[in-house]
Amino acid sequence: MKILSLSLLFLLAATVSHVRSSASVPGLIELLESNTIFGDEAELLEKEGLSINYHNCRSWHLGVETSNIIDFDTVPANCKDYVEDYLITSKQYQSDSKTVCKEAYFYAKGLALKNDTVNVWIFDIDDTLLSSIPYYAKYGYGTQNTAPGAYWSWLRSGESTPGLPETLHLYRNLLELGIEPIIISDRWKRLSEVTLDNLKAAGVTKWKHLIFKPNHSKLPEVVYKSKVRKSLVKKGYNIVGNIGDQWADLVEDTPGRVFKLPNPLYYVPS
Ligand SMILES: *[C@@H]1O[C@H](CO)[C@@H](O)[C@H](O)[C@H]1NC(C)=O
Ligand SMILES: *[C@@H]1O[C@H](CO)[C@@H](O)[C@H](O)[C@H]1NC(C)=O
Repeated sequence: MKILSLSLLFLLAATVSHVRSSASVPGLIELLESNTIFGDEAELLEKEGLSINYHNCRSWHLGVETSNIIDFDTVPANCKDYVEDYLITSKQYQSDSKTVCKEAYFYAKGLALKNDTVNVWIFDIDDTLLSSIPYYAKYGYGTQNTAPGAYWSWLRSGESTPGLPETLHLYRNLLELGIEPIIISDRWKRLSEVTLDNLKAAGVTKWKHLIFKPNHSKLPEVVYKSKVRKSLVKKGYNIVGNIGDQWADLVEDTPGRVFKLPNPLYYVPS
C-alpha cells in the first residue's frame, strides 16, 4: 500500500511539475505494468501458507458471483461474519434471490409460448430449490475445509435441507404459466430417497422429470448437466429458462435465458 501511495505521489508530482519532468519518475504505463505490489503480497502469503486474503468481503463476494474469483477452496477466514450476515442476519440473501426470481418470472410471463411443444424450465436442487446453509453453518459458513463427500453423508443422515422460499415461489408461478419444471440435480441416484423426502417437505411435488446423476458418476457438473440438456432438446422439449446457484449449472449449451442465484459459500468449477 505504501509503495502504491508513494508511486501515486510521484506520479502526481510528475504531473504537477510537468515542465521539469525528470527521467527517474515512473510513467503511468510503467506503473500499470508493474506487478511488484501484488507480487510481493502473493509471495508473502505463500511463505506464511495462507490463502489470499480479501480485505473487503463484499468485493470478494461480488467477485465470486461474477465468476471473477473461481475455484476457491474455502471462504476467506476473515469473511465468516460477512457471509453469516449476508445469509442470515441482514436478509440480503433473500432480497437478492427474490430479485433474481422476479426477473425470471417477468421474463417467462412475457414469452409468447407455443402450445405445440412442451415448454420447460430447468431447476437445480442444492442452493436453488433447497438450502444447504444448515450444513455450512456448522463449518464456519464455508470458511472451514470439510472432508470430500461430507456433504453427501450429511444428506444421507436425513437432516433436512429446507426449501428456499424465493425459488419455490418462482416454481409455483411457472407451473401456473404452464411451464413445466425439469429438475436436474448433481446428486447421485442413490440419494433419490432422501431427496424426494426433502423436495416433498418443501412443497415440490410436480415436475416433468427429476434427473439424478448415475450412481458413482464422476462427470463434472458442467459436463453432466450440459449433456442432459442436450438430450432434452433432442427429445423435443423447449427449454425456456434455467435457474441455478452455480455457473456450472448454467453455462454451455443452454437454450433460453439463465438466472444465477447468489451463493457465497462455495464455487463449483465450470
Ligand atoms: C394452440 O393455439 C392455437 C392458436 O391459438 C389454437 O388454435 C389451438 O387450438 C391450440 N392447440 C391446443 C392443443 O391447445
Ligand atoms: C443406485 O444406488 C441405489 C442405492 O444404492 C440403488 O437402489 C439403485 O438401484 C442404483 N441405481 C442404479 C441405476 O444402479
